[in-house]
Amino acid sequence: MRRPLVAGNWKMHGTRASVAELIKGLRLLALPTGVEVAVFPPCLYINQVMTGLDGKAIAVGAQNCAVEPMQGALTGEIASSQLADAGCTLVLVGHSERRQILGESDELLSRKFAAAQSCGLTPVLCIGETLAQREAGKTLEVVGRQLGSVIEELGVGAFARAVIAYEPVWAIGTGLTATPEQAQEVHAAIRAQLQAENAEVARGVRILYGGSVKAANAVELFGMPDIDGGLIGGASLNADEFGAICRAAGN
Ligand code: PGA
Repeated sequence: MRRPLVAGNWKMHGTRASVAELIKGLRLLALPTGVEVAVFPPCLYINQVMTGLDGKAIAVGAQNCAVEPMQGALTGEIASSQLADAGCTLVLVGHSERRQILGESDELLSRKFAAAQSCGLTPVLCIGETLAQREAGKTLEVVGRQLGSVIEELGVGAFARAVIAYEPVWAIGTGLTATPEQAQEVHAAIRAQLQAENAEVARGVRILYGGSVKAANAVELFGMPDIDGGLIGGASLNADEFGAICRAAGN
């Protein structure tokens, strides 16, 4: 059985004061057993969150890592070794905002994925199609290429220690959610692509859905056979809403 994971991506939100409030709310949550919960604050607040959530069963991850695994001369970046040193256990790789706004390529993302794993971090590889690509009938092709590029570079075995997040770009922050059936179709295709190379890896890997997940639609989405939890943006900034989504994954 795959253990569900609910991950909160705080994106570029927060101040020291609002982060303190959110930590307070998260500490009060009754979290379901059997569900792994993680939050991804902006790097600046990772220490604050790590300290604030001490003793609470919530993992802390980063939203990005450098292409180089170890510290060195790379101005403005943060190495996976430094994230691990700060207590992070996970890192997002290839969120669509970074692919689209910062132009991160599949090739670059494979390097980040490898850098994260080499420092013991679990990469959460984000993949997903734009609205134009979906309307052109290219969803599975696009997602297959994004996943395939990491498999090609690092081998399918790399997914024995990774998480995948399927996030249709048109559903992120828009209030539009993929229907459970639309999401399931893509999740099944992702698993089949891995399965073609390694059945054990395909069976074990968790594939999260992301894109306007809320407490109100989480139960239905998480009820699909190949959806193993969620990557939550906007709704993760509200501790009560996030807690309700975590409980939905425990059902
Ligand atoms: P959203 O963001 O839940 O606000 O749509 C999801 C994400 O970008 O990870």
